[in-house]
Amino acid sequence: MSKREHWGSKVGFVLAASGSAIGLGNIWKFPYIAGENGGAAFVFVYLICIAVIGLPVLMAEILIGRTTQRNPVGAFRKLSGKPFWTFVGGMGVVAGFVILSYYAVVAGWTIGYLVEAIKGVFNNFSSAADAETHFNNLVGNVSWMMGYYTLFFVLTMAVVYMGVKNGIERGSKIMMPVLFFILIILVIRGVTLPGAEAGLSFIFNPNWDKITGQSILIALGHAFFTLSLGMGAMMTYGSYLSKKDSIPGSSLQILTLDTLIAILAGVAIFTAVFAMGQDPAAGPGLIFHSIPFVFASMPGGYVFAILFFILLALAALTSAISLLEVITAYFVDELKWARHKVVISMGTVVFLVGIPSALSYNVLSDFHIFGLTFFDLADYISANILLPLGGAQSCCLCRLDMGN
Ligand code: PHE
Repeated sequence: MSKREHWGSKVGFVLAASGSAIGLGNIWKFPYIAGENGGAAFVFVYLICIAVIGLPVLMAEILIGRTTQRNPVGAFRKLSGKPFWTFVGGMGVVAGFVILSYYAVVAGWTIGYLVEAIKGVFNNFSSAADAETHFNNLVGNVSWMMGYYTLFFVLTMAVVYMGVKNGIERGSKIMMPVLFFILIILVIRGVTLPGAEAGLSFIFNPNWDKITGQSILIALGHAFFTLSLGMGAMMTYGSYLSKKDSIPGSSLQILTLDTLIAILAGVAIFTAVFAMGQDPAAGPGLIFHSIPFVFASMPGGYVFAILFFILLALAALTSAISLLEVITAYFVDELKWARHKVVISMGTVVFLVGIPSALSYNVLSDFHIFGLTFFDLADYISANILLPLGGAQSCCLCRLDMGN
């Protein structure tokens, strides 16, 4: 058997793992769920979830990976020797399929929107309603949707195809610094807009009335989602660490970067949204409806819109890579397939699984299961069921192992 690949450096691991953690969850999802659930009060609950639950689960996953040097299925088998735990690892690999399939849909939009920004389309909007109509027209167009969805898959597969060190690590070392740099520029632009204070007070002044049992659950689910926990992504990345690498330090760095980026993204987005008089609780469309209009109406907006969509696309790419890597590691370790064969065949399978999600916005928009479209169902099942369950089980297993 060929020797397991390892990260070239500790920084490489921290950047790759942060790349997995920092994704659409931070820039697309976090601002709108915070907006819908009371702004700063929600941020506070979320921070507690991250610190009390996120950090221990993150350390547990990386530790299981580093100890076993295996994908989630192999790791759980090696640690427990019981079929039940192998099933739990398998659930992680399945979650990889489910999440990647719908994640790539939104990720495809980010590339499509980057092209719209470059073409200067946003300058034609005279109201947020125009931006919304434009969004609905784009996602209603099957070839636009499928084209960018496919392009995003090809990019993700290309990086994973090149391997852990030459693909994932090298890609993260380039993409993550660019991402930080762009975000800082957008934050500076946001806070220097007249009227930005309203956006800042929205994120930093709590409205406790909005906190309910449901919003606490959303904060908890998001803590798992944003740290890529509960499906073996961090375990798989941990399995490319060598035994001498320390875990608590790296985990804290990953967690801090992820949280910082979510808060900074919130600052960049809400200062701009409030300064331009838009609704902060605009839901999943916040980024694709409000933001293009917001940029259209601010000085220098053309450039900032381009930067913003590069930021989103990079964040999405480094996360999607980790999702595909979980699947890849499973087939390489357990079935002894060659990496390039897994990436091409399984990448194509996930691509096919995601097509109904991509079509949820057009041809299949009236098709509902439990009242949800394919896209919403995949999001709901993964963030609210598979990830918290998988995360809890990783901790149990880690506990078992420590007890031995
Ligand atoms: N953490 C990523 C985000 O915030 C999503 C993700 C979840 C990636 C699970 C990998 C595994 O967008």
